[in-house]
Amino acid sequence: MDVQVVDWLALVTRWLHIIFGAAWIGTSFYFNWLNNHVRPVLSDKPPPGVAGELWSIHGGHFYQVVKYEVAPPALPKLLHWFKYEAYFTWVTGAALLVLVYYLEPTAYLVDRRVANLDPAVAIGVGVGTLIAGWLVYHALCKSPLGRYPVPFAVLGFSLMTGVAYGLSEVFGARAAYMHVGALIGTIMAWNVFFVIIPNQKRSVEAMTKGEGPDPALGRDAAQRSLHNNYLTLPVLFIMVSNHYPMTFQHAWGWALLAGISLVGAGVRHWFNLRGQGKKNVWILPVAAAGMLGLALVSAPRSTAYEGEVTFAMVRDIVERRCVECHSAQPTSTLYPVAPQGIVFDQPTEIVDRAARIHNQVVVTQQMPLSNLTGMTDEERAILGAWFRRGAPGP
Ligand code: HEC
Repeated sequence: MDVQVVDWLALVTRWLHIIFGAAWIGTSFYFNWLNNHVRPVLSDKPPPGVAGELWSIHGGHFYQVVKYEVAPPALPKLLHWFKYEAYFTWVTGAALLVLVYYLEPTAYLVDRRVANLDPAVAIGVGVGTLIAGWLVYHALCKSPLGRYPVPFAVLGFSLMTGVAYGLSEVFGARAAYMHVGALIGTIMAWNVFFVIIPNQKRSVEAMTKGEGPDPALGRDAAQRSLHNNYLTLPVLFIMVSNHYPMTFQHAWGWALLAGISLVGAGVRHWFNLRGQGKKNVWILPVAAAGMLGLALVSAPRSTAYEGEVTFAMVRDIVERRCVECHSAQPTSTLYPVAPQGIVFDQPTEIVDRAARIHNQVVVTQQMPLSNLTGMTDEERAILGAWFRRGAPGP
């Protein structure tokens, strides 16, 4: 397919993905908040079955919400369900995975420095990881372990870190991160599709038949909701991570991902405790210290080069390894337009971007993209030395 068509499709899909994701996470945050803030009914004669109520003001209007212990005596005519946000977030996410990673597997998915995978095999590994990951998760939820949240979390976190490590050994670094995110997103959306919504439906059906709801249905749905709650912040980080090659390109990228995910789940825990009226003073400072620690341990790689470095050498390397994509007239079939508008045709365009070039080529080694142009370690070292010596021009 034409690259520009793919890019426009990706733009629209990404936009929709963010819109649906914001709607999903928005409702999820709102209902968590609601659950934590309904208080026992204050009025003398509460309606039968009501467990609590909450008043709020928003946009100049007053709202009163009541929460039922189990269900209202008679079902209302109009009952709102929250599911399409989750489904469409997943569908647009899957489409984006195809557009960005599977249509042109040589751009991000396959990185020959990591593993020389056949593109079809790489796509199979990607899709297989999502399906197998869900099946394992689903089976674990139904196993006796599923009833113990803390051991379950420890095992789930270890398995997910294992997946991150495994993928980092076969995929380009950015694709490895994104597939962990896609697996978490799949688990969350399929929890809604396969467990939470069907169980709610069965409960409602039982009630319309005049039977009491089966507590097991509610318990299973609550288990999946709890998992989704803690997965939200880590998955949001992964979705923006591709802007930060110092994370996924790092030699210990999978471990950084594990650390940042712990910070995300910890911050979520703080919100949950706060909602229950428990003030915890140490989680946020520890999370901040954790981020600082991760930033420090992920200190940049550096390469030594003792020989003389001239601008002519630098320009020669850039011309050989970069301008295929970064030019006003790129020759690359992958990028008919220079990525992010960055071009290196003129000497000043190289000198002015010395810091960025250093960051991309030496520190994170994200460029040349998937090393498609075959840059050598010595060339990286020369660019690094050029930058450290003040990036002299012609
Ligand atoms: C095969 C195509 C290709 C080649 C070759 C290539 N790049 Fe890139 N470059 C890209 C793409 C695609 C992006 C956008 C990446 C993104 O969106 O995360 C990019 C982005 C960049 C950026 C901006 C990233 C940022 O966030 O600051 C810089 C700087 C850069 N490249 C430098 C280089 C240098 C220097 C070389 C040569 C050593 C090079 N690139 C070779 C495709 C390429």
